[in-house]
Amino acid sequence: MELDLDAHLADAEKAAAAASTEADVRALSAEYLGKKSQLKAAKKQLGALDPDERRSAGLRLNDAIERLETLFEHRGSQLADEARRSQLEAERLDLTELLHPIERGHLHLVTQARDRLEDVFVGMGYEVAEGPEVETAWYNFEALNIPEWHPARGSFDTIFVDLGEPESVMLRSHTSPVQIRTMEVQEPPIYIVAPGRTFRTDTADATHLPAFNQIEGLVIDRGITLGDLAGTIDTFVHAFFGGEVRSRLRPSYFPFTEPSAEFDISRPDGSWLELGGCGMVHPNVLRNCGIDPDRWQGFAFGFGIDRLAVMRYQLDDIRELVNNDVRFLRQF
Ligand code: DAH
Repeated sequence: MELDLDAHLADAEKAAAAASTEADVRALSAEYLGKKSQLKAAKKQLGALDPDERRSAGLRLNDAIERLETLFEHRGSQLADEARRSQLEAERLDLTELLHPIERGHLHLVTQARDRLEDVFVGMGYEVAEGPEVETAWYNFEALNIPEWHPARGSFDTIFVDLGEPESVMLRSHTSPVQIRTMEVQEPPIYIVAPGRTFRTDTADATHLPAFNQIEGLVIDRGITLGDLAGTIDTFVHAFFGGEVRSRLRPSYFPFTEPSAEFDISRPDGSWLELGGCGMVHPNVLRNCGIDPDRWQGFAFGFGIDRLAVMRYQLDDIRELVNNDVRFLRQF
């Protein structure tokens, strides 16, 4: 046999090691094992040999072919693995590229204030109640002892909804209707606070928003007096603002309470700041809800949560609360 099998195999191994792609290996396979390969040519020449030599040369040739087949198969799958690995590497998403930590939001200033208010009152044994933002004249006015002819209706700057009789449906102008809704369905004793959104035709300015937030309080029990109201306001003010802040009641007028008062809190400079209204629930209001005023008494109060936030954080303009400027909001 003219072909030096050992040298031929060594050549093939060198070539396979040098191959860098599966296609290279396929080309080598064709070159070394294909129809025109030297091994195939050597096989054809076997017939010319005498039988003994033909047998041993045939065995060696077959052995060489087998070894080359294994060689190319191994090298081929090795290169395929490498190709897959480098593709994976190239396609990997490198999340460490995100250099800034993700910025997390937090609850809005007003939400924080509302949550704290709820916490303070829940701590005093109150439950949290809710009512709809669209109300009827009965809940927003009449049941609260504000009949149609009452001048107080005008002071509420109500936003009416175009539904039913004129001025019969409205965006609630205060959270006081939740008092009525609660008394309608709940037997006394009642201890609730009702935070929620309220609406008036006010144009937004430094101290007004047309959509704002109030919190209402209502207590109905036996033998409740103005002293209980004053003590409750004082306890809440201390819990919310801290021990050094004082509160006071000033006589005032609301149709749904008798007597009525406004309550103020003390500023560090000794002046007083008006926070909200309160009073002893008017007997007419109790009667409107089917509660006997001779057996049950109670007090109510209500104030703006946005204004409370403005006060607590000493903001110059209440509109900051709705401007959605994250540079502002981030500070709280
Ligand atoms: N609803 C009143 C307002 O929006 C605030 C208020 C005053 C609520 C006295 C009360 C109260 O419960 O007793 O101006």
